[in-house]
Amino acid sequence: MKALTLRKYNQPLVWNEMPIPTPRAGEIVIQVHAAGLNPLDNMIARGQFALLFPYRLPQVMGNELAGVVTAIGTGVKKFKVGDEVFTRPDIHHLGAFATYVAVSAEDVAHKPRNLTMVEAAALPLVTLTAIQAFTEKTHVKPGMKVFIQGGAGGLGSVAIQVAKHLGATVATTVSTHDVEIARTLGADIVVDYRTQKYEDYVQNFDVVLDTLGGNETFRSMKVLKAGGTLVSVIGSPDTDFADQLGKPIVKPLMWWAGRKERKAARQQGVTYKFLFMRASGQQLADITPAIESGAIRPLIAQSFPAEKLAEELPQLGKKKTGPGKTVATFV
Ligand SMILES: NC(=O)c1ccc[n+]([C@@H]2O[C@H](COP(=O)([O-])OP(=O)(O)OC[C@H]3O[C@@H](n4cnc5c(N)ncnc54)[C@H](OP(=O)(O)O)[C@@H]3O)[C@@H](O)[C@H]2O)c1
Repeated sequence: MKALTLRKYNQPLVWNEMPIPTPRAGEIVIQVHAAGLNPLDNMIARGQFALLFPYRLPQVMGNELAGVVTAIGTGVKKFKVGDEVFTRPDIHHLGAFATYVAVSAEDVAHKPRNLTMVEAAALPLVTLTAIQAFTEKTHVKPGMKVFIQGGAGGLGSVAIQVAKHLGATVATTVSTHDVEIARTLGADIVVDYRTQKYEDYVQNFDVVLDTLGGNETFRSMKVLKAGGTLVSVIGSPDTDFADQLGKPIVKPLMWWAGRKERKAARQQGVTYKFLFMRASGQQLADITPAIESGAIRPLIAQSFPAEKLAEELPQLGKKKTGPGKTVATFV
């Protein structure tokens, strides 16, 4: 099979010919039909996670996919050969940018029936991120007010819909050309961040989803009401992240890294949390009825044949493509 691999950090990815994987106990093998691209792919390729997730290079890349089950490992009951599925494999077992991939069945769900393979491949990573931000890091309930930065991005476009699905009032920031699309996704307050200040429209919110980091973490924290929570997916880590990694030894490091955010939050009477999303087939299965009802739909910026992945991936976020996610097709 063909697989796009990272041979050395900070070097271009390279296509390799590799054997089709055989499933171990608890795994299924999936023929990849489409794979979603994420900023995380480039962060991993640059070596930004090399200490936290020490991949043994060469590593097949790719963080999410949709496809068809071709083989089943022992002990797997939920899936059979021929099932259409979508998944975000565990961060330690990447491999979506390949014609076949072995994935723990725990990380997989049946593909929503109303979606194409391209659409389904665009959802797992960002949908899980939004679910975990709004149901684990915070507990969004009907009537709560949620502010989502970057509402036309891959994450923001789905996070708006997940927050609306949970009953929240949603405010978001987008570029001028994406104001209308953010409204159609369900955002109640849409701020054109290029011409407007969101502080003029967004105050006393319960939750902020910070997708930008840097100064924006501190700036957007100020729109929270006392007792509110900012969840950052890009800012400094917190000590819970050390637990999630199973590395309590790095807790002091994480505590030190997040000291400025914690201090700012303390001064305002709010809470700062970091989220690094995790794989979960169960959460994908649980949200599937909302996807099949049309309450949550993927926004596709562009798709292209997988042969172009090596050249297109480094352009992600740099080249103007329109709102939503970029997806590579393998079949
Ligand atoms: N920790 C986690 O588990 C996790 C999970 C998912 C994503 N992430 C991170 O979250 C970030 C967003 O991911 P993504 O997939 O949504 O990326 P993306 O598709 O590239 O979207 C980024 C969006 O941010 C917008 N933006 C840029 N500057 C802005 C500003 N000053 N104000 C408001 N919006 C602004 C961009 O709009 P314009 O292009 O119009 O400026 C774009 O729509 C990335 O850093 C990613 O690594 C983390």
